[in-house]
Amino acid sequence: MATIVVSSKFPIEHASSCYVFLLSPDSISSVLSDLGNQLGVDVATMLSQHDFTGKVRQIVEFAVLHKGRLVRVLCAGLGASKEKKKLDIEGLRRSLAAVYRKIAGYKIESFVLCTPDHTLFGLSPYELGTQMTIALEMAAYHFDEFITEADRKAIHVEDITICCQTDVAEFERGVQDGTVIAQGVNRARYWIDLPPSLLTPPHLADKAIEIVNQHPNELKVTVFNEDEVNKMGMGGLASVSRGSEVECRLLIIEYRGAQDNSQPIAIVGKGITFDSGGLSIKPALSMETMKDDMSGAAAVIATMGVLAILKPRINVVALAPLAENLPSGKATKPGDIVRFYNGKTAEVLNTDAEGRLILADALSYAVQHYNPQAIIDLATLTGACAHALGPFFSGLFGEDEALINRIKQAGNRCGERVWQLPMDDDYKGAIRSPVADICNIGKSAYKAGAITAAHFLQHFVGDVPWVHLDIAGTAFDVPDIPYYRPGATGVGVRLLTDLIMNW
Ligand code: BES
Ligand code: ZN
Ligand code: ZN
Repeated sequence: MATIVVSSKFPIEHASSCYVFLLSPDSISSVLSDLGNQLGVDVATMLSQHDFTGKVRQIVEFAVLHKGRLVRVLCAGLGASKEKKKLDIEGLRRSLAAVYRKIAGYKIESFVLCTPDHTLFGLSPYELGTQMTIALEMAAYHFDEFITEADRKAIHVEDITICCQTDVAEFERGVQDGTVIAQGVNRARYWIDLPPSLLTPPHLADKAIEIVNQHPNELKVTVFNEDEVNKMGMGGLASVSRGSEVECRLLIIEYRGAQDNSQPIAIVGKGITFDSGGLSIKPALSMETMKDDMSGAAAVIATMGVLAILKPRINVVALAPLAENLPSGKATKPGDIVRFYNGKTAEVLNTDAEGRLILADALSYAVQHYNPQAIIDLATLTGACAHALGPFFSGLFGEDEALINRIKQAGNRCGERVWQLPMDDDYKGAIRSPVADICNIGKSAYKAGAITAAHFLQHFVGDVPWVHLDIAGTAFDVPDIPYYRPGATGVGVRLLTDLIMNW
């Protein structure tokens, strides 16, 4: 991560070898005359010679002699405002990330960046500082621990100075909180990117305990091992883990930001550290990225680390059922029937639909022990959702309009967008079973695998307002967005943090 400092000086007052200006088509002329005056060059002509229009991710670069030094100037586009109202903050995120990558490629240790005006985006200075910082720090993430060739390792920019002429203190507060949120996102990405034999359920639980130990006053952790999971009657989690040599865990982290009797928000994340499909084994190609099947768990754990620092005045509990899904002589077989923590039973016809089995126990436990005011679960649950929405929107399922709206708004603010799919009763018949309460796969006539999976989960949330987010498409290998890379996105951390901080 880079160190970001905020300055109230003009960019050119800082001695640097690289200056960055972010411009929208509407702001080009005003910014340019300032910039030109400061640099003593005709910037407008330079940019028009390069056909610079201010489109998102367009970067024009030139060198000028400033006070006897040759300095680089980068102008990056922010995109046009829709109907001349306000600029889209996502354009700024992407521009910043593209700029960061470009400059890192030059092996420059620092650069100076001029903030665009916060009012252009309809944001407060605090929000702009937060969003700019998150984009820069996310762009700096690279999982290169296992690359030994020096020239393929990530090159980092050490120091970034952001110049901001108004509301400096508020902007700076945004930078500080943005740094914390980005650390959470990048931490989740790191866990997800780790190879599955290094990041097993006990390992991920240990990483969570490490974080809790850093914040003993804010966080409390409970970890149940496989024996305890069995004894508690969590037949879903136990049945998925049965085929593996490695033990499962049920991890619970509590954050206390309000009175003890204040009902918490429960966040629940699917934590399959590797999904082979079990006896209903996946084809090789589909298994290649299945180390990402704990992305929901990574998101909820990392979010708790963020909350411990940002300290919202609300109680939150995170639950992450952690297991490996592998075939073996002990593995659950298609046709087996499992009994969950809330007493319901399910026929397991496909052992590759394992996420809903482990979530069923975690959701039941949250309802019974925490009396939550809302439950949000995140899971790389179905290929069907990834196919329906692709990599840019997570699937949203639920019936509580107030909670749904909160989450949609948080998604639009923070850049992790969601798209609602129907939870209509007509789909309920898909998971009827002749031999158990429900079946873990939907009948083929109903198709809609993402929706029928959500209906399965609904059996375990009682009357609590609940939203399920299917992140199968958004958790890993998202193309074209420059603050991501091939690999984990850390989706969920920004969304949950935004939701909880603005509850
Ligand atoms: N972990 C997968 C879903 C997944 C697919 C995540 C692609 C990320 C990318 C899940 O456990 C699974 O295998 N689901 C099955 C369900 C089916 C058997 C009903 C699927 O989607 O094919
Ligand atoms: Zn599966
Ligand atoms: Zn899975």
